[in-house]
Amino acid sequence: MLGTELELRLLSYRDTSPLTGGQVDDEPYGGGAGMVLRVDVVAAALDAVYGKAPGHRVVALTPQGRQLDQPLVEELAGEENLTLLSARFEGFDERVVEHFATDTISIGPYVLSGGELPAMVVVDSIARRLPGALGSEESGVEESFSAELDGGLEYPHYTRPAEFRGWEVPEVLLSGNDARIADWRREQSRARTPS
Ligand SMILES: C[S@@+](CC[C@H](N)C(=O)[O-])C[C@H]1O[C@@H](n2cnc3c(N)ncnc32)[C@H](O)[C@@H]1O
Repeated sequence: MLGTELELRLLSYRDTSPLTGGQVDDEPYGGGAGMVLRVDVVAAALDAVYGKAPGHRVVALTPQGRQLDQPLVEELAGEENLTLLSARFEGFDERVVEHFATDTISIGPYVLSGGELPAMVVVDSIARRLPGALGSEESGVEESFSAELDGGLEYPHYTRPAEFRGWEVPEVLLSGNDARIADWRREQSRARTPS
């Protein structure tokens, strides 16, 4: 349990594998290098946890999935329950993706060694959208990719000192004029957001 909003359960396919010695993967049909995560192993893990088909979204983490972005994070943050499936080596037997996953998600157009880091990225991005996750040190409202900034990038921030080695904080931020500051921030956000 993390705070009051997030309960995480971490499971290893090895713990519920029906195969001897905790085997979870096998050689690819058709030949080639690498090992493939077996469909019966994933089925056993899901059965052990849910006993039946999970009644919620099951996400297979794969570079071939829908790219994670803030709208998708917001969507997932609205889910009561979520299952994330990770693989290693060559990835999943395709039947896992076809029959057990409701979604496939990629955290970016590059290949990592396993789904552990992608799973953590997904969990962290969701966790900070849950009620009470952010303290007063961080605003989750007006930030990059938020609707408040029309999906654009956040404006620059400055703090004390107002001048350092001749590098000055923009005068408008010291003006105390909230309307001017808001206008300046909007403008900066628009200027740094690729069109
Ligand atoms: C080495 S990768 C497999 C790559 C796969 N053979 C391919 O070419 O698309 C092993 C596992 O790491 C995870 N993974 C690697 N990169 C990822 C990414 N960008 N997004 C999400 N998961 C990723 C997935 O679970 C994947 O099955």
